[in-house]
Amino acid sequence: MICKRLQFLAVLAILSVPAFSQAPLPPQPRTPPLLLGAAWYPEQWPESRWDADLSLMEAAHIHFVRVGEFAWSTLEPSEGNYQLDWLEHAIRLAEKHHIAVVLGTPSAAPPAWLTTKYPETLRTLPDGRKDQHGNRQQFDWSDPKYRELARIIATKMAERFGHDPNVIGWQIDNEYANQSYGEADRIRFQDWLKAKYKTLDNLNARWTTAYWSETYQDWRQIPIEETYGNPGLLLNWKQFVSDEWRSYQKNQLDVIRAHAEPRQRITTNMMGWFDAYDHYTVSQDLDFTSWDDYVGSGHLDPVRNGATHDLTRGFLRKNFWVMETQPGMVNWSADNNMLDKGEVRAMAWNAIGHGSEAVEYWQWRSDLNGQEEYHGTLLGADGTPVPVYYEAQQVGADFDKAGPVLAGTTVDSQVAILQDYSSRWAVNWQRHNKAFDPIDSLLSYYRPLHRMAGSIDIVADTAPLSRYKLVVAPALNLLTPDAVKNLEAYVRGGGHLVLGQRSGMKDEDNGLNPQRQPGPLVDLLGARVEQFYALEKTVPVSGDWGAGENAIWAEQLGSLKPDVQVLMRYGKSNGWLDGQPAAVTRKVGQGTITYIGMELSSETAAQAAKWMLQQAGIAETMPGLPEGVDLAVRTGEGKRVLILTNYAAEPRTITLPKPMENVLEGGTVQSVTLPQYGVAVLK
Ligand code: GAL
Repeated sequence: MICKRLQFLAVLAILSVPAFSQAPLPPQPRTPPLLLGAAWYPEQWPESRWDADLSLMEAAHIHFVRVGEFAWSTLEPSEGNYQLDWLEHAIRLAEKHHIAVVLGTPSAAPPAWLTTKYPETLRTLPDGRKDQHGNRQQFDWSDPKYRELARIIATKMAERFGHDPNVIGWQIDNEYANQSYGEADRIRFQDWLKAKYKTLDNLNARWTTAYWSETYQDWRQIPIEETYGNPGLLLNWKQFVSDEWRSYQKNQLDVIRAHAEPRQRITTNMMGWFDAYDHYTVSQDLDFTSWDDYVGSGHLDPVRNGATHDLTRGFLRKNFWVMETQPGMVNWSADNNMLDKGEVRAMAWNAIGHGSEAVEYWQWRSDLNGQEEYHGTLLGADGTPVPVYYEAQQVGADFDKAGPVLAGTTVDSQVAILQDYSSRWAVNWQRHNKAFDPIDSLLSYYRPLHRMAGSIDIVADTAPLSRYKLVVAPALNLLTPDAVKNLEAYVRGGGHLVLGQRSGMKDEDNGLNPQRQPGPLVDLLGARVEQFYALEKTVPVSGDWGAGENAIWAEQLGSLKPDVQVLMRYGKSNGWLDGQPAAVTRKVGQGTITYIGMELSSETAAQAAKWMLQQAGIAETMPGLPEGVDLAVRTGEGKRVLILTNYAAEPRTITLPKPMENVLEGGTVQSVTLPQYGVAVLK
């Protein structure tokens, strides 16, 4: 293995130095195209132990460790007393083992001296109590003193390690999550509103505050609300929270950028569908995005998990990292079962298939004490490998084999699904039927489309769309003027747009549009939603996509222009819906706009997806893919790589469209047979 690493360094050397150059090579960090990592906490262990850890990591083909993200009390044991030598030692020792380092800034875990001396930095809980030391994330994300202290420690780290050849990147903080609800936070929110709305008359009008005498005469009267407030107030608080996380992050990012070489790329670890803030807002300053991929109870749903990777890739529309994942099990779920043997490896390949460049296990070794004693690890508390270590080792060996083949590739999709935080928030505040889940709604489109069209991008409604043949917007409840312009231009430019249930109901203040759904897109569609219905029981639907049952939500479409085609109709139900249009479509030049008012149930989903792909001229990627087999495709200049994984309990044989190189097993094959959780990478 070490031999292979030397070969890799030699190739890098040849590639990076012009033939005429006599200059000595700068030290090369070990960053192969696919990285296996572990979250390592050297601050918890005597230095004499580190070499044993790093040797075991090297033997597992681990390429990087993430270090430091909760180590503030070790990095600065008292105010202004910076202790970074231990970190330098850890980085140097890792380097000896050919293991690169991602540094985490420690602001997610403020030390006790800090919160004692500056109690104003503690966050205020929704009930008005102050958080306290002893957990983590007890800080107020908006507090200037906290930001100052976090900025100083990030500066110290960046000054010391910004040119370190073995440091390849930075993670700012850890899993932004908790906002604060104190008096000072409220004042900052009110000031933010003032900067946005300029006058109270404007705010009052746009929020319709005459309703329930909510009218504000002074900015200081405006409260914080998160559950049953004025919809405009609810939305603006979330947008403020998002902007605050962005500036909280920028506070550290700017000092790291000022001191670090650009090759040290900066990220933060996000949490998939978590919606406490708008991830597009927070991502825009980062070099790349990453997320923490945990199954919790049960087993991997490769489609939902794949969609979450696509979501994360969509924040910046480029490859991303899995910054944390479970070595088999977690400790925080209801039932912390172990993933099956083989499933951890399948899960790693699920990430790579959807555009990840790294998979990092949280965590390397069990802490001897602390809140997470039961969590899955690669080493036990005794410091020797637990069984899943050997599976991670296989993942590392896979990555070393497949890395060169996947280098320079990404996911290239013809289909985009739009995802919008304001729309998700808006629906979740007023679900109207508690079973209506915006993520399930999105996945009802994602599942069949992914199966037939392979890769899917999940992007914002303001993302550039012209490169997609098909754009689907499930539950795009809230439409900003920018989104409307973007969607209209897409359709008029020949694109095929499908709007799902609940689309186009709200304006940018989370108020009702004065037109019926889909609001500003009614004219383009040539039809509208006459009424929506939260369903008590299922309603039959039938038409071009066959027959099925529609649950949870139904929208009655009507006022059709003559050139609008009805695709599906409701059967007998509450009288109002009987025989009424459930899905309609209209040609606009070379493009089309379609509205689906019914739920895409499993009966109709496959047919609907087939129809959408036909309309858009997209061929199925691999027709006849056996049930339970997941296909991912990555492409790059002159490269097309297929990743096939079998999640069915029985072995599956997949016939390939042509003979391909079997990257992991060797040889050229025309078909592959995979056991459960078996993976094939084919070029
Ligand atoms: C993550 C967190 C890690 C660890 C892990 C356990 O959310 O970032 O520090 O707590 O969960 O699953």
